[in-house]
Parts: sequence; C-alpha cells; structure tokens
Amino acid sequence: KNVLIMFGGRSVEHEVSVITGLQVAENIDKEKYNVVPLFITKQGEWYTGDELLDIKNYKNLDVLLSKAKKVYLEPIPNNPYLKFYPEKGLFKKTPEPIKIDVVFPALHGSHGEDGTMQGLLELCNIPYVGSGVLGSAVGMDKIIMKDIFKANDIPIVNYTWFLRRDYVNDSERVLNYLEDKLKYPLFVKPANLGSSIGISKAKNRDELINAIEIAINYDRKIIVEEAVENPMEINCSVIGFDNEYNASVLEEPVSWQEFLSFEDKYLRGNKNSGMKSAARRIPAPIPEDKTKEIQDLAIKVFKILDCSGISRIDFLVEKDTMKVYVNEINTMPGSISFYLWEPTGLKFKDLINKLIEYAIL
Ligand code: DAL
Ligand code: MG
Repeated sequence: KNVLIMFGGRSVEHEVSVITGLQVAENIDKEKYNVVPLFITKQGEWYTGDELLDIKNYKNLDVLLSKAKKVYLEPIPNNPYLKFYPEKGLFKKTPEPIKIDVVFPALHGSHGEDGTMQGLLELCNIPYVGSGVLGSAVGMDKIIMKDIFKANDIPIVNYTWFLRRDYVNDSERVLNYLEDKLKYPLFVKPANLGSSIGISKAKNRDELINAIEIAINYDRKIIVEEAVENPMEINCSVIGFDNEYNASVLEEPVSWQEFLSFEDKYLRGNKNSGMKSAARRIPAPIPEDKTKEIQDLAIKVFKILDCSGISRIDFLVEKDTMKVYVNEINTMPGSISFYLWEPTGLKFKDLINKLIEYAIL
C-alpha cells in the first residue's frame, strides 16, 4: 500500500512538521508500506520525490525543489491519485500518477492540523490518520476549544477573548474589558497557533499592550488567560480507536521554543546541540493518584472533542495545590508523541502501524 506522508505546510510550525514527517517516514514498516513523501512548502506548493526524505537536503531548499517533482491531488472521489505537473520542455515525459491508499498528515498548525487538509481528503475519499474535520478544527482554535471544555466541566483557567479588529478600532475599551474580566498575570495567545508561537506573558497594562501587539500579527482572534501560579507543565498522549481509548505515561516537556531552536541548529547541521531534546522528564515526577486523574481527564478531552487516532493533551498543574488544569490539545502532536508510548512497550514502528491500520479499517 502507498502511504502518502505529508509534512512541512503553510504554517508557522512548518519546521517542526518536517521533523515529524521524516521521523514517520523513517520508522514506518517498509515491508508493509511504500512511502510516498509529500513536502508542502511554506507557500503551499506540493512536491514529491525520495530526495525529500533526507533532512540534510533541506539546507538548500532551492536545489532540493529543483530535483523534486511538483504534484497535486484532485478532489475527485474514488480517484485517489497524486498527479504530476507536466515537465517543461519538448521531449520530457510526465510520470504516471501515483495511487494513494492512505495519507499520514504529519502536519502541525494551520492548513494541516486544523481540519482543512482533512476536508480535502474527505472529498477525495482517501483514508487518513488522525482526527477528522471537526476534532481537528475545534482542537486548533483555542477559544472554541475552551468554550467546549467549559461546557463539559473540564477544569481550565479563566479566559476571555477579543477580535483584532475591535482592538485596532478601540484598544482602550478592549484593555478595560480584559482587566475587568481577568486578574494579572495574563497570557496572551493567538487563537490558532501552536508551538508557543506569538505567546507572551503580561504582568501589567504596559506588558499587556506589548503582548497584544505581538499576538495580533498572527491571528484575527486573540485569547487571554489567567496565568497559573508556579505551574508545572504536564503532557499526556491518548490513542483512540473505535471505542477503545488509552492514555500514555506523562511527561514534563521541554518548551517548544527550546525544541525549535534545537531543530533550527540541527537543520543547519550543528550536531553539538543534539542533547537538548533529552531534557523532557518521563514519567513526569508526580504522584500516582494525580497521574491517574490526568490520564482520565486526557481521555475525556479526547472524546469530548471527537478526536481519533492520536492526540497529546497538555496540562498545567499548580505546584503548591496540585490543582490540575487542561491547557490545550494537539491533534497531530510533534513526533507523534512516540516517546510517550515507547516506555509502555509500544515501539514507534508499531504505533505508526496501529494508526495507519485504524485509518484504513
Ligand atoms: N504543536 C506542536 C507540534 C506540539 O505541541 O506538538
Ligand atoms: Mg499545537
């Protein structure tokens, strides 16, 4: 079977997705599946070709893309073929289209993890790994996500939101509204981004203005949340098939900013920075009863948002009181959260197999 692995994408999480996509390609069961890489550029163009599977080639993107083949997918049901753009020049022959049996959208953030790609694949009638249109879309919008959490009594921090347009028109009114509803310190976040991009903390009005000016560069909707005092970040992955749900061990993660700067160096070929990503603590150092509480909550969140396949749910735990808050969900988590499953005996390869098998059931 041909598995189309999508990565890159028109998203600020483009680089993280390249890493995730290549990890999936490397660990997929080659005896069962034939890998067809699909690299999506930051501008949204699609390319395939085996040269896209080597991370070193990304150091010179122009050279890489000149060797790769430009492709597209037509949303024609039951005609799941990856088509090639005709070669330029008189005697060039355009290759045969490649049949796609299943897609692994290893995409993070906008135009990939947010239901848009899932919508295209639904129209094409091609099975794909992970959550469907609804779960992906809801999981991407931090405001809608929290509204749904609230309606289902999932513990979350106090939050509110506003439109960029309203801030631009009357910033004073928006600032007063925020200060009226919430208590400092606050976190200001674009509603639709991941990997901590565009997020800042504000302890007073000046900092709040700065934080908003950053966030509105990224999104037309901004969410503002009360900060948890002395927090510990805890993440838990959930795998969901049919009516069976499993929660992983917990991690205390490295921040994505740290991760990104690590990958940035890695992409430029600096091998010395390689140990940074080992900084996450697995299992997270918290008591057993809290672990169980978080795992149960993670599964509840996964179900409520109508997710499937795999997700990672991120929590904040107040260190003094050990009170647990759900922060957000990632419906296509970085590195597919394989490192949270390996400690329970599920190898990366088997995890990928499981996810693909579920997609084509
Ligand atoms: N959005 C990134 C990739 C993550 O949190 O996994
Ligand atoms: Mg995310």
